[in-house]
Amino acid sequence: MNIDSHCHLLPAVDDGVESIQESITLLEEMRLKGVERLYLTPHFLSPKSPTNISEIMKRWNEFRSELNSHSVEVLLGSEVFLRPEVLECDLVSMGESNVILVELPTQQKPHYLFEVIENLQMKGFRVLLAHVERYEYFFKKSGFLLGKTKLTGDISRLRDMGVLFQVNWNSLDRDPKAKALIEEKIADVTGSDKHKIGDGRLLIDFNDGRYGFFLNDYYL
Ligand SMILES: [Fe+2]
Repeated sequence: MNIDSHCHLLPAVDDGVESIQESITLLEEMRLKGVERLYLTPHFLSPKSPTNISEIMKRWNEFRSELNSHSVEVLLGSEVFLRPEVLECDLVSMGESNVILVELPTQQKPHYLFEVIENLQMKGFRVLLAHVERYEYFFKKSGFLLGKTKLTGDISRLRDMGVLFQVNWNSLDRDPKAKALIEEKIADVTGSDKHKIGDGRLLIDFNDGRYGFFLNDYYL
């Protein structure tokens, strides 16, 4: 199944689309590019885009049938910002699965990274790390004139813990860190991370052979 695992198309809850019309326009474009299933992943606990679960559920109940009337299966998830208090919160996983999409701070590796992920796993969640290429601290430069981007041991440690890795489709052409993840066969899933019309983020093109790098839906 052709899946876009990360987007902000639930209207009027975060820094994503503002109206159902905008969502439907994007959903139609996605359908034409081959999307068969889309997970809506509004921010949760993000310092940049504060949201609350009751508002997310209210919008989901308001729009779920309209969103699902365009030949694309639309399911609710969320994009959870990793912080210790996440362990005290009710979390929205991806559809009926136990997978939660988790984002990290971009500048500095959180000191609680491994501990909180382990605790989430003990609660029964499978962690899918959002746009891994965005976290500079997971990568290092090496080789001739430091021209090669390599992964740090933290990525291997997370992999050994059973964490899944999501790469933004938009990064494939332009980000050496995304390329390194694909070369090392460590990118499991892709997503558009589409926020709104005109945000400059490419929609996933399922006719592009590179989608074949990614796993399908066994984990969901
Ligand atoms: Fe996102």
